[in-house]
Amino acid sequence: PTLTIHTQDRGQELGDLFGIFFEDLNHAADGGLYAELVRNRSFEFDPIDRAEYHALTAWEKIERGGGKAEIAVEDGFPLNPRNPHYVVIDIQSEGDGVGIMNLGFNSGIPVKRGETYLFSVYARREASFDEPVVVTIEGTDGSVHGEATIMVQSSEWTKYEAKLTAIDTDFSSRLVMVTKGKGKFYLDMVSLFPEKTFLNRPNGMREDIAALIADLKPKFMRFPGGCLIHDGSLNPDDRDSMYRWKNTLGDLAQRPARRNNWSYNQTLGLGYYEYFLFCEDIGAKPIPILPAGYNPHHKLIVPINELQPWIDDAFDLIEFANGDPSTEWGGIRTKLGHPEPFGLEYIGIGNEEVGEPFFERYAYFHKAIKEKYPDIQIINSSGPFAAGSEYDRGWKSARENKSDFVDEHYYQTPEWFLANYHRYDDFKAEDPKVFLGEYASWGNTYYNALVEAAFMTGLEKNAHAVGLACYAPMLCNVDYINWKPDMIWFNNHEVYGTANYYVQKLFMHHQGDQLLPIEANGFEEKQEIKAKPINGAFALGTDRCSFRFWDMKVVNNDTGETRELHGGSSAELSDTDEDRLNGTSIQTLELGESDWSNYTLSLKAQRMSGPKGFNLY
Ligand code: AHR
Repeated sequence: PTLTIHTQDRGQELGDLFGIFFEDLNHAADGGLYAELVRNRSFEFDPIDRAEYHALTAWEKIERGGGKAEIAVEDGFPLNPRNPHYVVIDIQSEGDGVGIMNLGFNSGIPVKRGETYLFSVYARREASFDEPVVVTIEGTDGSVHGEATIMVQSSEWTKYEAKLTAIDTDFSSRLVMVTKGKGKFYLDMVSLFPEKTFLNRPNGMREDIAALIADLKPKFMRFPGGCLIHDGSLNPDDRDSMYRWKNTLGDLAQRPARRNNWSYNQTLGLGYYEYFLFCEDIGAKPIPILPAGYNPHHKLIVPINELQPWIDDAFDLIEFANGDPSTEWGGIRTKLGHPEPFGLEYIGIGNEEVGEPFFERYAYFHKAIKEKYPDIQIINSSGPFAAGSEYDRGWKSARENKSDFVDEHYYQTPEWFLANYHRYDDFKAEDPKVFLGEYASWGNTYYNALVEAAFMTGLEKNAHAVGLACYAPMLCNVDYINWKPDMIWFNNHEVYGTANYYVQKLFMHHQGDQLLPIEANGFEEKQEIKAKPINGAFALGTDRCSFRFWDMKVVNNDTGETRELHGGSSAELSDTDEDRLNGTSIQTLELGESDWSNYTLSLKAQRMSGPKGFNLY
């Protein structure tokens, strides 16, 4: 067999084809990539987020050696109105110390011997409280792994910081704050970060998870969701607001917490600035996705005449990413520490919307963005694959508006992926390109990974139609699973890539620049099949595969007479149970003979896709 590759005959460019998708589900951000170790650090957990949550979720009271204290959560004198709750520790009797401790994520707060942890807290006190607060990282048996002390000296909210170096390794520790004395003191925004984060960024990413992601070498990163971008109310100041990117900037204490669509609380500590920075750090182009003023989960719709602020959010985001420091939002980026632009090229409007209100609004976004920023490539949305006609609706809208991309999503069986290897063969180069924004076969087995690899070759070879593609979801904390399979799994101190991860990595590391024509010779014959007729006829049946066959002939066993039937053909069969049970006739051979029992059918065949061989019935 020979393969001839025409290296001088350059075809379609592959561009930014293979990238990643980050969504904060499965605790991908809080309790995941975002390195904060304290869970519910600002006492904002609420049943709105999840029925069993309350303001003291993940916190416990400490009363040592006869100590007694009342612990309450209040909002009368907040650190700021967007982060209204704080804890009050009212010391009744000091004993050997009273206070609170945080239980962290998973089995607890993970610390490693010799490593340093950055503690910070906002605190204030009543005048009568005048004792040090001892901050420790402790094992569940009370052993102290690290210690620091702060003096709360003001009745105004003040930030206190301390460094603790762990003398032991313990992945199930607690962060403890204990004091003696009399009176009340107040705490908010209690934080503990490893000093070592990915590239040592402050408020940064967990080093091991970030490194595994960076190792993929993705061309782009889609963020921050997924369904979480458009589920919530329409007012950005609501506790239950949709994901509004401006809520995620600047001082952590000023960022509101929000209900995450995946039934937990999202601190927004990992916000848009951090996303852009992370993209830059790992060499991935940022692809932010904005809500389009429509919440398909609760059918909340911004009236068209009130859409402008939502469109302005898109304008401001582009300016935030690309604007000169002298512009309003470029200036904000500069103040945050990044005068250079982030080089935004793509923006997505909406995610998997099903329903006319989305498409009506998309048109306004598209027109306005293209007028102001003609070079920004805009991604339209389409419903989830199963929605069928909605999918078509997405394409119709994209063609009408001349969207640069249509965001397709599908989670399907491995068989579906094999059978759809040719999905994009007939897509037209002049149509909007496909952004395959979410896809995965159902599983993390080697077989799933292999099938995805096969499918990805189908994406590559159709670079005229497919511009961007990313597996989903990317991250999952083993103790907070919303969705599986996922590409990368972790607990509070370990992380590993699945077989699917390594397939993605392979394709990202070896993505070419342009397609080259290839000719294959000598790979023809795979299988030779002989069969006898049943009930007086031959029919070719198969189990969920596509195949081609050729050299089909019928031989008379008595005389040796041979009759050629076909040159070649191909077929692709559906995967319903009925087809599987009965076999699907795709060629019934009618030769006009009365007695078939004396004939043998033979053919050469090659299975093109599908998990099983095929049978003759
Ligand atoms: O990737 C998980 C979810 O699947 C995404 O949030 C959503 O877009 C899709 O339904």
